[in-house]
Amino acid sequence: MDKMELIEKAKEARNLSYSPYSNFAVGAAILCKDGRIFLGANVENASYPLCMCAERNAVYNAYMNGYKKDDFEALALCTDTDEPSSPCGACRQVLSELFPAKAPIYMSAVNGKIVETTIKELLPYAFSEEDLKK
Ligand code: THU
Repeated sequence: MDKMELIEKAKEARNLSYSPYSNFAVGAAILCKDGRIFLGANVENASYPLCMCAERNAVYNAYMNGYKKDDFEALALCTDTDEPSSPCGACRQVLSELFPAKAPIYMSAVNGKIVETTIKELLPYAFSEEDLKK
């Protein structure tokens, strides 16, 4: 699967979003090395802090199907914004532990704009298990 096909999956994943409060649908798609794809979309709640982002739902979806960090090849996100949105801080922290540091992350907008980055770029000096060592 190429980059544009993965981005299309992230765009489709927006249809799974439950976002009646923000009306901001986010789609995510993780491509695995064996070709499998796991989708995520944001799922909100009337108790606002309980909202869950698309990126974390996608990566947790993959883990719940037995896939792990080293199995992942790329991640695509999609939002309906003028410029592609980037993952929030909480998602960056989760991705820094569960997604490969240098694998491509394609941040895309429905209008076709794409920005390519990595989690290492998005969250340098991430807190990690190394920091827990005394
Ligand atoms: N959201 C995501 O799904 N991913 C992000 O990285 C940023 C924000 C969602 C959370 C909430 O449902 C909506 O976008 C507005 O913040």
